[in-house]
Amino acid sequence: MHCMPIELSFTWNFLSIMTSWASPELRKCLLLGVTGGVAAYKAAELARLLAQNGINVQTVMTQAACHFVGAATFQSLTSNPVYTDLWDANATQNMAHINLSRDADLILIAPASADFIAKLAHGMADDLLTTLCLARDCPLMIAPAMNRQMWGNPATQRNLSQLRQDGVTVLGPASGEQACGEVGIGRMLEAVELAETVQAAFRTVPLLQGKNVLLTAGPTFEAIDAVRGITNRSSGKMGYAVARAAVEAGAAVTLISGSVCLVPPAVDKFIPVVSAEDMLRAVQAEIALADIFISVAAVADYRVAHVSQQKIKKSDGNLALELVPTPDILRTVSSLPNPPFCVGFAAETENLEENAAMKRRKKNVPLLVANLAQDAIGSDESELILFDDSGQHILPKASKMEQARHLIKHIHRLYSQQH
Ligand code: C5P
Repeated sequence: MHCMPIELSFTWNFLSIMTSWASPELRKCLLLGVTGGVAAYKAAELARLLAQNGINVQTVMTQAACHFVGAATFQSLTSNPVYTDLWDANATQNMAHINLSRDADLILIAPASADFIAKLAHGMADDLLTTLCLARDCPLMIAPAMNRQMWGNPATQRNLSQLRQDGVTVLGPASGEQACGEVGIGRMLEAVELAETVQAAFRTVPLLQGKNVLLTAGPTFEAIDAVRGITNRSSGKMGYAVARAAVEAGAAVTLISGSVCLVPPAVDKFIPVVSAEDMLRAVQAEIALADIFISVAAVADYRVAHVSQQKIKKSDGNLALELVPTPDILRTVSSLPNPPFCVGFAAETENLEENAAMKRRKKNVPLLVANLAQDAIGSDESELILFDDSGQHILPKASKMEQARHLIKHIHRLYSQQH
């Protein structure tokens, strides 16, 4: 089955009258992705509710979705053509409607099938909707809908965990009677709930709009010789999540990162570095513009005094290396005459609270984020304790992306009190 955009013969209908109050430049644009599942019928109601509330809804359906509900339904309800084909010859410059995601303020996939979630998690782009999701710079929300066993399958849960890590918001699913006759978790949230979530997202003023955020993330690597070095087990996951959350909050983000095995988030500027010295130089080059400096990097505290240009030969005796301290980047920044709002991180293995409170004073920062190194390093989840002038705030265990979003809200609160 091959569904092409369907242009209705009339352009003047009741919806254009209902939505005409919102000037085109103020109207928010939602790209509604519909994938194959019985819940696709609820997506039609969702499209109706959103269009009724003045949102410009552009619908993209997968081929499987077309088996469940007709494109003409969405066309009528949204007054926009419905797209299903990556290879539409009528699209601008044959760019496969890539502009659809460029113009979108938000993409919502409802329903999101197990198959589509798997494709998203693996960055596939083999049809129009997956391509648009990959080629976006706006937030992505998914409303899963599937049989309870598909939902509970470790493969689905693994894919969802990857998507959450990538900054995708997962809405639902709810529990209840399913189309297959079973009862359990996997029902798509109701159209009204999803419409409210989308509208709330559009109402929210980005907290850090107009602010420049400078971040460090990942480990540093201090060379010993031509092939060896001192480093640590930081994965960069927390720093990258905070960078993503800052982007979501509307900030212009510069991310300075040690080497990690992660795809950089869509920040304004990404600066890869190796050693603590490199990181300091990069920070110093960028700091003048920063309103907020978030130092998440696990900077090595020592480097060797004399780096050997050649590989050091093995001998039977002991080898003594002279270690000298690296520059403390955070302290250098917080000691500037006019420092940005500084946030430090502390990974402790014991006496978390005492050490973190002491570190906040020593580093002279208004906010210090502490976690237990053994729980946090390399993990997708963490429990955080925020230390500031008003005391401690515990963020119970959650995904690093969720923690990052909470942290950005907290930073915004403190920053607004000072400015
Ligand atoms: O002293 P400690 O390494 O525990 O401090 C952790 C905090 O200080 C983190 O925010 C880290 O990014 C920052 N730091 C730094 N430069 C160093 C060491 C740590 O900026 N040389």
